Amino acid sequence: MIIERQEDVTAAALAVMQCTTDPRLREIMVSLVRHLHGFVREVRLTEDEFRDAAAILNELGKLTTDTHNEIVLMAGSLGVSSLVCLLNNGDHGNTETSQSLLGPFWRLNSPRVRNGGSIILSETPGEALFVNARVEDRQGRAISGAEVDIWHASPVGLYENQDPEQADMNLRGKFTTGEDGRFWFRSVRMVGYPLPTDGVVGRLLRAQNRHPYRPAHLHALIFKEGFKTLISQVYDPHDPHIDTDVQFGVTRALIGDFIRHDEPHPTEPTVRPPWYSLDYIYVMEPGVARLPRPPIK
Ligand SMILES: [Fe+2]
Repeated sequence: MIIERQEDVTAAALAVMQCTTDPRLREIMVSLVRHLHGFVREVRLTEDEFRDAAAILNELGKLTTDTHNEIVLMAGSLGVSSLVCLLNNGDHGNTETSQSLLGPFWRLNSPRVRNGGSIILSETPGEALFVNARVEDRQGRAISGAEVDIWHASPVGLYENQDPEQADMNLRGKFTTGEDGRFWFRSVRMVGYPLPTDGVVGRLLRAQNRHPYRPAHLHALIFKEGFKTLISQVYDPHDPHIDTDVQFGVTRALIGDFIRHDEPHPTEPTVRPPWYSLDYIYVMEPGVARLPRPPIK
């Protein structure tokens, strides 16, 4: 097709996309071209801006390594990750869901911990946190034998892989739910943390006068045959950034029952008040049990 007017480019590109053999890839590519061309027209993208955009995409890729995923950070900072999650869970976005973002820090092979154990592997100063969770199906029936990966940031806001002060796999653990669907463990109270701001995402946030913080949260990945793998984050409602999460991840269903206790702990005499408890029920939906690709090693 010889292009006569600017409108012809869109028609020509759409016609080519229509030739895609795979129907799902065809649907995605036709829509992508329609929206991309519409976007370019709407903002009247200049040539300089187009070259900048190509350089930015290039930089996002170059900044992504085995231990850092700038693309995941950018997708979250644009709200895309959260939208994809909500559209694909909770009856396609119609009901509440325990699903949330995977984030960039899940690792395979967390150390196995018995229920009631601790996930603190190296000295980690902070207030004690006792997590008591239950895994249920949508009818409220306990799911036993589910494999639960837990990970969270330290009281200074760093994951162990970001922090030479912490032992490998500190504040990470793998549990199995009991007959009653429960798993429980001891850790330290995490705090919110800023995204790394020395890359493309940081420049965007500064340009928009946005803070880079995620509110304090507990990550979980729960695996059980017959259920869609549950990737969750439970948030602390007392965090100052609870309603301005830079990654748009906080939903009502993910706000946890974090409670401060000033009395002595009933069974752990060495715990000094204040200590914290978190009770939470994870709800799994029927589906295919599949592990995601770990964003880092
Ligand atoms: Fe996180």
